[in-house]
Amino acid sequence: MRFLICTTFAAIVSASPGLNHGLSKGQWHPPVAGDVRSPCPGLNVLANHGILPRDGKNYDHDMILEALPSTYNIDEKLATGLFQQGLRTTVRSGATTFSLDDLIRHDIVEADASLSRADAWIGDDFTFNLTIWDQTRSFWKNPIITVEDLAHSVEARWRTSKATNPWFSLLGERIPMVSGGAALFTSVLGNSTAGTLRKDFINEWIVEERLPIRLGWKKNKTPVSPDTVSSLSQRIFAKTDLAGEINGTMTRALLVGHGGMAL
Ligand SMILES: *[C@@H]1O[C@H](CO)[C@@H](O)[C@H](O)[C@H]1NC(C)=O
Ligand SMILES: *[C@@H]1O[C@H](CO)[C@@H](O)[C@H](O)[C@H]1NC(C)=O
Ligand SMILES: *[C@@H]1O[C@H](CO)[C@@H](O)[C@H](O)[C@H]1NC(C)=O
Repeated sequence: MRFLICTTFAAIVSASPGLNHGLSKGQWHPPVAGDVRSPCPGLNVLANHGILPRDGKNYDHDMILEALPSTYNIDEKLATGLFQQGLRTTVRSGATTFSLDDLIRHDIVEADASLSRADAWIGDDFTFNLTIWDQTRSFWKNPIITVEDLAHSVEARWRTSKATNPWFSLLGERIPMVSGGAALFTSVLGNSTAGTLRKDFINEWIVEERLPIRLGWKKNKTPVSPDTVSSLSQRIFAKTDLAGEINGTMTRALLVGHGGMAL
């Protein structure tokens, strides 16, 4: 099983003056006119803190390889994979950078049945959507979210999208991608071994697109690797009832053929 990750994160601000709106690195500020953002909260957060350039544009390999490890303790292998996935969203041939709005391109990083964004057919599939997020978090009854809670959310989002989206494309072998995004944010914000995270942390990160530092979050001591994320993703998926949906809908999956996880 291959997993795709929501690729979005990035780097240190070497940066020309003006790029950071007069704010210091680390300071949180929402985007201003002219800035671009992505369907992926993880990278938007870094841009909002100026850990990656605040304009959201032209992120290169070095920026991502600095920002993801230093902020999220994502290891080099995963950071490189995420960067390469980001590059695949650009339409420029030979591109060595991507911008956050490149990631909006459907079915590469952005995918249907997101936990916090509407599906592409609705129109805006990259801005935080409260209706979607309310459905996702309705399954989280306690301050600590568990693997089972995450499984309930991803299954509900998948079933709702499949039932309401005439262009729904997260089918067949791609179905297990539904749990990838949850596995990634749990690995970064919570405890990937236990499969748990604090509800207030993820809410701040998704809704405000802000590191939940003021709530007490600290970067994990253990690096987050591709294996960390894919094994947690499989644990979440195993708690859903979606495995049986895979066989009936195989065609589109074989055509698409990209591995990864969708947020
Ligand atoms: C949020 O998502 C819901 C459900 O897909 C959709 O009906 C609504 O139009 C979306 N809101 C915005 C502002 O896109
Ligand atoms: C993560 O959870 C595991 C299993 O419950 C536990 O042994 C470990 O101490 C936790 N790690 C942290 C940093 O809390
Ligand atoms: C899909 O079909 C194959 C062959 O019939 C079977 O071995 C496999 O268990 C099925 N997988 C699922 C998820 O139903």
